[in-house]
Amino acid sequence: MRTTQLLKTAYTASGVSDTLQRYENRFDDGHARPEDRVSEAASLSSEYYGLATDFYLHGWGKLFHFGVRHQGESQQDALRKYETYLADKLQLQEGERCLDLGCGVGGPMINIAQHSKVSITGINNSLYQIEKGHEFVREAGMGSQCNFLSCDWMKIPLRDETFDKAYGIEATCHAAGRRTDLFREVNRLLKPGGLFATYEWVMTDKYDPADLRHQQIKRQIEIGNGLSDITGAADVTDSLAAAGFEVLECTDRASECDADTPWYHPLRGEQFSFAHLRTSPAGRRIMHTALAGLERLHVIPKGSTRVHEVLETAADGLVAGGELGIFTPMLFVLARKV
Ligand SMILES: C[S@@+](CC[C@H](N)C(=O)[O-])C[C@H]1O[C@@H](n2cnc3c(N)ncnc32)[C@H](O)[C@@H]1O
Repeated sequence: MRTTQLLKTAYTASGVSDTLQRYENRFDDGHARPEDRVSEAASLSSEYYGLATDFYLHGWGKLFHFGVRHQGESQQDALRKYETYLADKLQLQEGERCLDLGCGVGGPMINIAQHSKVSITGINNSLYQIEKGHEFVREAGMGSQCNFLSCDWMKIPLRDETFDKAYGIEATCHAAGRRTDLFREVNRLLKPGGLFATYEWVMTDKYDPADLRHQQIKRQIEIGNGLSDITGAADVTDSLAAAGFEVLECTDRASECDADTPWYHPLRGEQFSFAHLRTSPAGRRIMHTALAGLERLHVIPKGSTRVHEVLETAADGLVAGGELGIFTPMLFVLARKV
């Protein structure tokens, strides 16, 4: 996606400013209540992804998640391996039907469908992401294996036991505080014994809720990523158990990254490289200046520069959370429907 095209398909006229205003009001301590963010998480995330998706496509590609990266490996290869790891843990068999919770623009769904020869239904409540997803599935020639369903994942309009397997990649963090309801819905849709795998964003045991710096980092990650809350690993495993799953595995894969290439490496970008130009701090500063100029010239919608600033907050929080080890986006959990 070209810089001059940012937010132009997703919005018209004052759409960006109005949505951004609504989004930021939700985090305004004077007026907003944290419990409202939890109960309105679906609207919060769809506002967020309406604003953020073009920036993700521009800076990150079609795979909206992190990965275990080793020295000498490209970021895109690491992300693909991160997906096929999950596919292999699910023991996907050719011809099976699989559910992708919060499928983004369908990048992981396409890769997993190609890798495992399964058919996948991607659930998403961001209409704009689904629109982009259709385009990418068509380009990849994967229309016979990949399809999208636009709905809130708390109420998926499909029959019980529709799927053999299910997964979510860095998605169900948007249901923090309400994971049990979501996992019950996944359980309902799985056949008996069906496996469910998920990569979860959680605060680790090192997070001290009384520490002001820790609180600030958690809030930066929430505001910058459309999250109503970030809970700990126990919220994930307890919710799975309450929803009728047996937890088979729960590991933080952050420890598998090489020391020189932690998961937040592309956002920190201390070594200049063209691969990291759009995600590194230097690249983001250049981007910010370019956006301000384009916005002044009315090439991109009013409010676009501010959206970029919100995403900057996300990057700062993620790097700080990763460096202190108080946050991980890589909690891998495998569970079976009992
Ligand atoms: C960080 S993105 C991950 C996307 C994708 N799994 C990937 O790795 O590329 C989170 C996804 O969850 C979706 N999502 C959030 N809340 C949702 C809800 N209530 N119902 C359906 N999808 C939701 C978002 O629209 C987004 O596509």
